[in-house]
Amino acid sequence: MSDKHDAIDDLLLERRKFPPTESFKKDAHVVGTHLYDEANTDYEAFWARQAAELVEWTEPWHTVCEWELPFAKWFIGGKLNVSWNCLDRHVLAGRGDKVALHFEGEPGDTRTVTYAALLDEVQRFANVLKGLGVGRGDRVNIYLPMIPEAAVAMLACARIGAAHSVVFGGFSSQALADRINDAEAKVLVTADGGWRRGEVFPLKPQADEALRDTPSITAVVVVRRGGIEVPMTRGRDHWWHDLMAGADPVCPAEPMDAEQLLFLLYTSGTTGKPKGIMHTTGGYLTHVTYTHKYVFDIHPETDVYWCTADVGWVTGHSYIVYGPLSNGATQVMYEGVPNHPGNDRMWQIVEKYGVTIFYTAPTAIRTYMKWGIEEPAKHDLSSLRLLGSVGEPINPEAWMWYHEHIGGGRCPIVDTWWQTETGGIMISPLPGATTTKPGSATFPLPGVGAEVLDDEGRIVTKGGGYLTLTHPWPGMLRGIWGDPQRYTDTYWSRFAGRYFAGDGAKLDDEGYLWLLGRVDDVMNVSGHRISTTEVESALVSHPSVAEAAVVGANDATTGQAIIAYVTLVGGASADEQDLRNHVAREIGAIAKPKTIYFTPDLPKTRSGKIMRRLLRDVAEGRNLGDTTTLADASVVNELQKRAAEAPTED
Ligand code: WTA
Repeated sequence: MSDKHDAIDDLLLERRKFPPTESFKKDAHVVGTHLYDEANTDYEAFWARQAAELVEWTEPWHTVCEWELPFAKWFIGGKLNVSWNCLDRHVLAGRGDKVALHFEGEPGDTRTVTYAALLDEVQRFANVLKGLGVGRGDRVNIYLPMIPEAAVAMLACARIGAAHSVVFGGFSSQALADRINDAEAKVLVTADGGWRRGEVFPLKPQADEALRDTPSITAVVVVRRGGIEVPMTRGRDHWWHDLMAGADPVCPAEPMDAEQLLFLLYTSGTTGKPKGIMHTTGGYLTHVTYTHKYVFDIHPETDVYWCTADVGWVTGHSYIVYGPLSNGATQVMYEGVPNHPGNDRMWQIVEKYGVTIFYTAPTAIRTYMKWGIEEPAKHDLSSLRLLGSVGEPINPEAWMWYHEHIGGGRCPIVDTWWQTETGGIMISPLPGATTTKPGSATFPLPGVGAEVLDDEGRIVTKGGGYLTLTHPWPGMLRGIWGDPQRYTDTYWSRFAGRYFAGDGAKLDDEGYLWLLGRVDDVMNVSGHRISTTEVESALVSHPSVAEAAVVGANDATTGQAIIAYVTLVGGASADEQDLRNHVAREIGAIAKPKTIYFTPDLPKTRSGKIMRRLLRDVAEGRNLGDTTTLADASVVNELQKRAAEAPTED
């Protein structure tokens, strides 16, 4: 056990290592340390080279970076168009017939969209938006299912210099109204409904509910996807297909200033009003193109890439729309849930399209673990060559399961740490160059500076603390829409001159970074600051456990006591005492949960993050606060009932 005074104690030790294989290295973009060496010498010059090589500009920049803490500008004076970089340049280079999107609808319908077809739709829709009065600097709200029209609408905004604000289709009408009003959006793009678990979920009725109280919206465009009957308000609402049929097919891409607002994306956080995170044009496109190319080792001629995120999240923005299309990749886009019609839907899709690169979230991986290895075993997954993970710390056992049962033991795994605010991946292995360890995101990418600090802001070289970023990067947020003070307070005031990500992290004796979750998720047990992630990983390493959520609840003797919520692998059984002893063996007696609740499911946000705040409320017997971002509220109600009944034991 490490020293008591660490900001966060470092308890779990993982010794397994996976160097890149010779066969992967043979064709990898990066195998040595040259990118790191170059970036360490001069990170601005490094990013400038990426911007010049990976992105096409209509006018060069005169200043690489202007840094007036905490406000950064990149590639000042440069002009470019994001949609031109994602579409026109590939078509002009003779790749118009290359598939951009293999769309797979949940009911099994498919669409193959080439780069030329996508460019055509984007130009038409850009003209539709212009016809509705949208121009440079305006905001457009997008509330759509996972269908190609989502990408078309986003790229059409980029083409004419309007900023989009995408709201995840699973959000309520209230959440939509709040976001429309904060952004003062002019136009809303939505659909009648989308497919989810074999049924159509209505979107237009939700949108109508929101639109009762959104004075800035002057027009609504509705995609017909679900085929359900929906009310249309005359003069305001238009069918997508009607407007597209009459639209001029030519809309030249207008050169945009590098710092033109590209999009707003709202993050809910745990409390308070959602923050409209601002991303701009040149730096963001450089960052996502660079990271998508090197982290996923993209070879656009041969790879079939699939990111399972929704376009409503930043992962969908950066690694479904902008990164992959800028790199000219071919990708799969899937509309629905992973268990319709069967628990093997994802693996069936991998086999069908010959997916080579698969990028998903730990919460999904743990769900697949729960469903059992028979599901992936039904399909030929031999096309896969690289796997990725994002969104939460990946527990070492989930990493191993992913490696063995999805990757067939041959695929490197890139565990990518980043945030809505960072715009693109910041900490990750480079798959041909980095020896990975299960559960570690390894090292900052070339061009990124990250350090772990203790409570007093001193640099930690081994052990736990707070993750900070030491210098600006091109994809960084430019602020919070309408609230510069909140931007400074949230990210730049905890540690002088540094970006504070809100995450805990530790460094091991070889300098590997291990993410420990949000710092609000650190427990204080008898003076030891223990990360919920490490206790969860210890629980998940037990063969019967599929998923675990750990929280600290107030405790008269120890300050906080560790309470665990555990979901077992399908068909397995486990005894509370046995699991407590297992944790003691893995990381030490101090980390033994005081109480373990067994539950078939854990409360999660709609993007799959465990809502520990709610579990803390449950454990401390409080009334539940805001549950609007919860994916399935019945899970917490059930846990609450049981917490009230169960005696706690020691
Ligand atoms: C967490 C998602 C550990 C982290 C791209 C971060 C991770 C928050 C990882 C941002 C990872 C994301 N390992 N934790 N590989 N990736 N996180 O804004 O707590 O939805 O601060 O962006 O997710 O979530 P967001």
